[in-house]
Amino acid sequence: MRETKQPVAEAADLGSILEKLERLHHIRDLSTLLDSILTETRSLAQADAGSIFLVEGKKLKFSYVQNDTLYRNDFLASRYIYSNSEIEIDKSSLAGYVAATGESLLVADAYKLGPGVPYSFNPYFDEISSYRTRSMLIVPLRTSKNDMVGVLELINRLDPEGKTLSFTQRQRSIVAQFAFYAGVAIERALLLRDVVYKMVMMAAMRDPEETQPHVNRVGSYSVEIYRRWAARHEVPKADIDAFQDLLKMSAMLHDIGKVGIPDAILQKKGPLDEDERERMKMHVLLGARYFENPQSEWDTLAREIALGHHERWDGAGYPGLASDANLSRMPSVPGKKGREIPLSARIVAVADVYDALSSKRAYKDAWEEERVLHHMRMESGKHFDPEIVDIFFEIYDVIKAIRQKWE
Ligand SMILES: [Fe+2]
Ligand SMILES: [Fe+2]
Repeated sequence: MRETKQPVAEAADLGSILEKLERLHHIRDLSTLLDSILTETRSLAQADAGSIFLVEGKKLKFSYVQNDTLYRNDFLASRYIYSNSEIEIDKSSLAGYVAATGESLLVADAYKLGPGVPYSFNPYFDEISSYRTRSMLIVPLRTSKNDMVGVLELINRLDPEGKTLSFTQRQRSIVAQFAFYAGVAIERALLLRDVVYKMVMMAAMRDPEETQPHVNRVGSYSVEIYRRWAARHEVPKADIDAFQDLLKMSAMLHDIGKVGIPDAILQKKGPLDEDERERMKMHVLLGARYFENPQSEWDTLAREIALGHHERWDGAGYPGLASDANLSRMPSVPGKKGREIPLSARIVAVADVYDALSSKRAYKDAWEEERVLHHMRMESGKHFDPEIVDIFFEIYDVIKAIRQKWE
């Protein structure tokens, strides 16, 4: 009898692990993936908090954090603030040790590490957040070729009453197993991110305005605006995750069509004349051409954004309804209006304009914050969808945190 009990429990575990892995399989964007890996492994091990470090060169970069006690149901402004620190890959720190040796670690109390261990616990995060780290489970993340890609740290296993327990050996082996697949998923997401970044870089080489920080910010703002919009409209969580994932990468490529605009226009210092402005407008059609004959949902969304990000809520934008991407001149037709413009493009319009006004450009200095915010408010219902502007102000602290991360 004793023997039949154990396999039943294991089968149930296995079922839920497979379900969690299945979810990872569909995620393409890196930060969405890291978020999902933390959510799933924390639920497997009842961990209150967790973080992921990714290998970058010879260091580990603190890439993602979740902490239910500190930011439960929060918009996680903090995850953008703490995510720029780095540690050495050597045996002196807990995560460094795991990355250097490939061994996982079980720690009962981070402040009472046994004698003779080479690593020590860095209390920095606890000190700035008044959080108390106790039990830890730290496992390596590897690629399919067995290269170290990162480290997953789970912190404070909690019982239902909120008391901290140690992680078990069984949790260690389940999480390590999960981490194996997670590592491969991270590898795939890094690869795709690399392709998107190369496209972005290609644009940045031609166009001094489309810098890497600008597109990163526009991608991140768009995701946060969308998440709040989706919460308001009661979009199911699985749909939010799937969409935000595609939205980020597509938003980053909003101006990719500028690659097809002549240097004389793109790099001109000072304002463009009438004819140059008309030719510049072509970038929305050229961008859409990149994603013509969509092969995936990602192509479809990227096309929608490239084409629609200069439409205006009041209909005075472009390229409007006659938006055949193969036209060689911008047709003079009315723009799309209101909800004729796809939601993705309405979101990116707000994110892009806000960022352009807040940044220095060849033809202007960065505007003062007050002036930018005044402009955003005044253009609600004219340039921008009023609901998206409302949301922008609702989450403005998060928007600012993103701005600081990608200065
Ligand atoms: Fe544009
Ligand atoms: Fe832009």
